Amino acid sequence: MTEFSLNAPKLFDLSGRMALVTGAGSGIGQRIALGLAQSGADVACLDRRTDTGLADTVQMIQATGRRAIAINSDVTDRDSLSEAVSRIECELGALGIAVNAAGIANANPAEEMSEEQYQNLMDINMKGIFFSCQVEARAMLRHGKGSIINIASMSGVIVNRGLMQVHYNASKAGVIHMSKSMAMEWVDRGVRVNSISPGYTATPMNTRPEMVHQTRNFESQTPMQRMATVDEMVGPAIFLASDASSYCTGIDLLVDGGFCCW
Ligand SMILES: NC(=O)c1ccc[n+]([C@@H]2O[C@H](COP(=O)([O-])OP(=O)(O)OC[C@H]3O[C@@H](n4cnc5c(N)ncnc54)[C@H](O)[C@@H]3O)[C@@H](O)[C@H]2O)c1
Repeated sequence: MTEFSLNAPKLFDLSGRMALVTGAGSGIGQRIALGLAQSGADVACLDRRTDTGLADTVQMIQATGRRAIAINSDVTDRDSLSEAVSRIECELGALGIAVNAAGIANANPAEEMSEEQYQNLMDINMKGIFFSCQVEARAMLRHGKGSIINIASMSGVIVNRGLMQVHYNASKAGVIHMSKSMAMEWVDRGVRVNSISPGYTATPMNTRPEMVHQTRNFESQTPMQRMATVDEMVGPAIFLASDASSYCTGIDLLVDGGFCCW
């Protein structure tokens, strides 16, 4: 009989790994940061928020017995991100996992959108992801190992009916393809890059004024007839962060309740 040495449950174990999560002060990033800690990782939590969001995340992680640090930084500021990675490597250890969830959303008809609105979103959602990956990969390439997960969106694959957000949709399509491009640049040096594309997810992002009345539409348009909870983004993130996905790089994992099938 063939003997297999693989211990399947251990595949998802993140013990001894150091993670950075951007956008960790709210919503999907906050829940994933806690989820990585619950799987054994120590986590640096980065956000530009100055309210209690980030401190809450750190406190929840420390309550699990894992180490956590809060980093106030903006993903559009590459020097500040570089300093953050140096601090993580100094205080926690070699960076092995990065989840880039920082992002914004807003809407306006394309023919009325100002350059400022367009540029501000692109700076955060596209350039911010690029800068984050760049500084994270510089550390991971030195160690010859790492997993980067970018939070894109199903809006990078489909156009959301009724939502006028050309810049957001384009930014998320950009994140998906940027992830594949970087995955191929680093494929032979131990660094994997993948993206997760959530469908409609119940977070503060979806409580912005133009969205509230849309929630029922979102639910009825989704084959599963409901929005995702932030809990449902944790499993996909642990999968991509861990050795369970050792042969996955350059994939976009749609977590959309079936939305893109219809
Ligand atoms: N909620 C959804 O339905 C949904 C669906 C698909 C994709 N997404 C994506 O998931 C990610 C997280 O969204 P969310 O729903 O959790 O939103 P959220 O608003 O709850 O959280 C986003 C976090 O990112 C932080 N952030 C924003 N700009 C930043 C910057 N320049 N530097 C550092 N931090 C910054 C915010 O302060 C906030 O804490 C985003 O990239 C979003 O586009 C969300």
